[in-house]
Formats: sequence, C-alpha cells, structure tokens
Amino acid sequence: MSSHSNQVAFITGASSGIGAELAREFGRRGFSVAICARRKDRLEALCQELTAQGVECFYSVCDVSDEQAMQNTVAHILQKFGRVDVVIANAGYADRGSLQKQSLQDYRKQIETNVFGVLNTIYPCLEELKKNRGCLSIIGSIAGYVPLHGSSAYCMSKHAVKALSLALRSELKQHGVSVTLITAGFIKSEIFNVDSQGVRHQETQHSIPEWIKMPTAKAAKKIAKATLNRRREKTLTIHGFLGKQLHRFFPRFSELMIPFGVPKDQ
Ligand SMILES: NC(=O)c1ccc[n+]([C@@H]2O[C@H](COP(=O)([O-])OP(=O)(O)OC[C@H]3O[C@@H](n4cnc5c(N)ncnc54)[C@H](OP(=O)(O)O)[C@@H]3O)[C@@H](O)[C@H]2O)c1
Repeated sequence: MSSHSNQVAFITGASSGIGAELAREFGRRGFSVAICARRKDRLEALCQELTAQGVECFYSVCDVSDEQAMQNTVAHILQKFGRVDVVIANAGYADRGSLQKQSLQDYRKQIETNVFGVLNTIYPCLEELKKNRGCLSIIGSIAGYVPLHGSSAYCMSKHAVKALSLALRSELKQHGVSVTLITAGFIKSEIFNVDSQGVRHQETQHSIPEWIKMPTAKAAKKIAKATLNRRREKTLTIHGFLGKQLHRFFPRFSELMIPFGVPKDQ
C-alpha cells in the first residue's frame, strides 16, 4: 500500500490541462483526490475515470474568485475525506492584450481569478495544512519574472503569486507547512485556447509553436515531485529557465527579444 493512501490532495482548476493531469498523478501516488473548477461535465468525467482506477475522488463546481464558494468547497471536502494534506492552487487563465485594448475590468478579473483565487484556496485549507504539516503549491509562471509584451495583466498576477508564495514560505515553515512556487514555461494545455475575455475557443488563440510546449503529464509529475519534496521553487522547461536567466542578467536584451514572439494586433 502507498505511503500516501490515507492522504488527500486538493487541486483547483482540474477540469483541464495541468490541473487534470495533477489529479491523475496524485491519484497514481495513492492520494484521495478533491478537484474543483467551473466545468461540471469535465470534473464529472475525470472523477469517473479516477474512480474506475480505484482512486477516491470528490469534485466541486465552483469559481475560485468566489470566496464563499471556496469555503463551501473545502467544507465539503472535509465532510467527504476528513482531511487535506496537499493543496495545489492551480486555477487560472492568461489575459492578453495591450493596455490600450484592455479595460480596468479585464485587469480586475485577471487579479480576482489568478491572485484572489489563490488566497480563496489557501484560507479555508490553512488550519488543515497546519494540523497535517502539509504541502502547498502555487502555480506561477515565467511571466512572474519576465515581462511579456501584451500580457501585462497576466504578468501582474503571476508576479503577485510569486511574492505571495515566497513570503508565505517562511511564514508557514514554523507550522511545518511547505510552500512551493512552480515557475512554469510553456506547457501543453487549454490555456492557449482562452481569449482575452477568458472565453474558451476550439482553436488556439496564440502563435506559440507546439514543439516548445512540455507535455502535460511530464509537467504534472515534476510538480507533484517538487511539492512532496517540499522544494522552495521549481522552474519547468528549459526555455523557461533560459528566459528567466536571460532577463535576470540581460534585461534590456531580453525585453528587445520579447515583442518578436507576439502577434501585431496586441
Ligand atoms: N500552460 C502553460 O503554458 C502555463 C504556463 C505557466 C503557468 N501556467 C498556469 O498553470 C495554471 C493552469 O493552467 P493550464 O495551462 O492547465 O490551462 P487550462 O487547461 O486552461 O486550465 C486552467 C484551469 O483553471 C480553471 N479555471 C480558470 N478560471 C477559473 C475560475 N475562475 N474558477 C475555477 N477554475 C478556474 C479551468 O477550469 P474551468 O474553465 O472549468 O473553470 C481549468 O481547469 C494556470 O494558473 C496558468 O496560469 C500555465
């Protein structure tokens, strides 16, 4: 029997992409899995898939920017499983568009989801994490280090969760809770199908080539390992690592390069 067989992993934004693969990965590692997002059909299908493999699964349909809904979700997880050991604050989307094309409302929505969504996830889980000396991971991005042309709202949100993660790490250490920041480069997921209003499309909305994206299952394995090993930070993808270093040591040069990868209408 796995050493994690009585433990529970809670993953937000698990109806697609990285979150869905994380649910499968934690299930394989012997955890019971609790997932949430807004698309019920996807969550239901994933729960059925995991249950068929012998993984105990619970899903909740909710929006991470809704504080009360997240409190209710965690209360239901505790009713179902009685504990939470690992929390992965993953839900998010990538707003795009120049300052001129964006509205204040677009910026607010991005911050409400990507930043307050993370806080709405952490608060109701905090006492559980402390009680179980658990692991918290926050899914950040290279955009939390490198300013991306035409993605200022997304960059703001990922800078904010990087700061939150690094500050909470020392704060929660005294309670035995680890905090891991995942700094992700391009990973295969549906994030590239979401437009600047957060609306999903069948076709991709980005010009990023497929070959550069890390397979989702590979990313999920690395995220789970870094989380359970209580790493401070894990950077995913070689291009992500190089982009981060380039911007750190040669910021002007890296800022010159960035607009070439962005469509002209942004
Ligand atoms: N893929 C990449 O290249 C990449 C790179 C760096 C960082 N990231 C980060 O990785 C995380 C996961 O994204 P992904 O790439 O896996 O994209 P994805 O396939 O679009 O998945 C995003 C997930 O977040 C959920 N979500 C979005 N807004 C939500 C809300 N308001 N309330 C609840 N759930 C919400 C979505 O579910 P519903 O729509 O069903 O609610 C979906 O399950 C994001 O935080 C993203 O910023 C991704």
